[in-house]
Amino acid sequence: EKGGFAHFMLKEIHEQPDSLRNAIRGRLDFNLGSSVLSGMGTSPRDLAEIQRVVLVGCGTSLHAGLVGEYAFEDMADIHSEVQQAAEFRYRNPIIGSRDLVVAISQSGETADTLAAVREANQKGAFVMGLCNVVGSTIARETGRGVYLHAGPEISVASTKAFTCQVAVMLMMALKLGRGRRFSRDEGMKFAKAIEAIPELVQKVIEQSDRIEAIAARYAENEHAFFIGRGPMYPVALEGALKLKEISYIHAEGYHAAELKHGPIALLQEGTPVIALANDIPGKDKTLGNVEECRARGARILGIITEGDHEAAEAMDDVIEIPACHPLVSTIPAAVALQLLAYHIANVRGCEIDQPRNLAKSVTVE
Ligand code: F6R
Repeated sequence: EKGGFAHFMLKEIHEQPDSLRNAIRGRLDFNLGSSVLSGMGTSPRDLAEIQRVVLVGCGTSLHAGLVGEYAFEDMADIHSEVQQAAEFRYRNPIIGSRDLVVAISQSGETADTLAAVREANQKGAFVMGLCNVVGSTIARETGRGVYLHAGPEISVASTKAFTCQVAVMLMMALKLGRGRRFSRDEGMKFAKAIEAIPELVQKVIEQSDRIEAIAARYAENEHAFFIGRGPMYPVALEGALKLKEISYIHAEGYHAAELKHGPIALLQEGTPVIALANDIPGKDKTLGNVEECRARGARILGIITEGDHEAAEAMDDVIEIPACHPLVSTIPAAVALQLLAYHIANVRGCEIDQPRNLAKSVTVE
């Protein structure tokens, strides 16, 4: 059932080109330069009414929401924010009929996310589900939304759900954007960028053996830092979460600019810093932060754009991802970090599919 892979996690990492193809299939409209997401159940008029997008979720789904936030602001020119689902439900959120609340949940059963859906429904918001499991409670209670079509995710550590969640949010942002400032031309370009995602991910997966060799050099450490900025900041958070949950290495994700406000005090000779330094706006600043870490003796693993010699020179080790749109690049970068976490955990002999203290679905608050 693991299809020849040692663990479900590895199988699901490898499935991503296919699951992403399934998530994208039939949903891009190259004539209109837009996307077709009929499950959203919104007319262009409904979409024009929306003033704010509020994304709620937990864990990895929360991190996907943080990437989505950039997409909605950037593509759709619409105020967007992310809230941890438990926080959302208890803080008496200010929302109403012109807010689109998107509940992000692979399982569709996470208790806090479900409670957030009920709260948003109560307040009359436009509520949508972004679920993988068809017919799950959140999918049913939202009544509208977009399924991921990622296929069953068995591994406790979420992988393909994350990348499909991001891909679907990029398509949602494209659709909302086309109702606003985004031109047909820009829309077509972005649709093409989305269409290329499965191929980009395939190129990262082909480097699995190389990543395994790199992982062996980082597997002895008990602490690690992940840094990024812009849409790569949530990817840093997600990379740190993957590493800590399956390898039990203490890993922290930080905004690259935040390190010098405190956490840099923890860097010692050989402390791993995984820097998301691919070619997006702000890359030079991140390279500056990398330099600061290196000056404290950190060992730097850079996730960089293929062929970027300047970035490569700043690093001790590199994993390359193909050049692509900055928002799209979050997906291949996340896959690189999934493989890194997997191989590190494997070297450490961890129970990858059944990490201690964790369950696949968190149905208590
Ligand atoms: C991490 C992980 C969890 C889930 C979280 C939300 O790898 O799997 O952080 O992402 O429990 O689960 P869903 O998306 O099912 O609501």
